[in-house]
Amino acid sequence: MDQATYQGIALDAHTALALLEWQLEMGADTPLLDDPVDRFDLPAQAAPSIPMAPPVAAGADQDDLPARIAEAEALASAADTLDALAAAQESFDGIELKKGARRFCFADGRAGARVLILGEAPGDEEDRQGRPFVGRAGQLLDRMFGAIGLARDAADVEHALYITNVLGWRPPGNRDPSPDEIAVSLPFVRRHIQLAQPDLVVLMGNVATQAAIGRRGILRLRGQWVQAFDRPALPMTHPAYLLRNPAAKREAWADLLSLSARLEALSV
Ligand code: URA
Repeated sequence: MDQATYQGIALDAHTALALLEWQLEMGADTPLLDDPVDRFDLPAQAAPSIPMAPPVAAGADQDDLPARIAEAEALASAADTLDALAAAQESFDGIELKKGARRFCFADGRAGARVLILGEAPGDEEDRQGRPFVGRAGQLLDRMFGAIGLARDAADVEHALYITNVLGWRPPGNRDPSPDEIAVSLPFVRRHIQLAQPDLVVLMGNVATQAAIGRRGILRLRGQWVQAFDRPALPMTHPAYLLRNPAAKREAWADLLSLSARLEALSV
């Protein structure tokens, strides 16, 4: 059998393994097709020519971030309902993550709920289902809030949760969102919270806390009420962290009790 090549590189078993590891490192952790394709068995084809990107003129503005933020702000502020906002955010092309994600993930739970949970970004399961917090961390989140009588599928707004994320698209390999990705997503998050009108916001983990109040260090900030998005907000440790550090559940329980007490106080 002839030696297989990939872009001019002899593809022996070691090279093939190195290529696979590189792809995993870049975040390609899921095959895009349902069935594997034996590419050694395909009829020979001329390699497609890949167009080169035009050179950037010296002095040209290489950073279009301000323009992308301005576009996100215009789209978000024009949306008058949550449905319109979801459509506007999904249509926004100023975030590269959109190209690699399977499904847009806007929100779950009950609009009008008194408590809104702001998470970080969809993971693998959320990317498949198009709903936030439906993987292992989401199941723990449901149990945590269930313990204080709140649920995303509660029939009445008093006991309901509304859940969204800072990012609507999954970062590859579940890497942390970049500052630029957060900056272009924030106009949608602000409008989202304005339209959902919760009494209280839970900032779930470091990314949500940083996006909301510009500070990191969730282990110091957790449990301390802050003002964010024009309402009281409580930073909490992320359920994914609690899955890895079960001892931290004690403090998370104290934070849940603080949330419950604050809700009670606002009701009277
Ligand atoms: N982690 C998050 O922050 N959000 C999700 O939707 C899932 C996991």
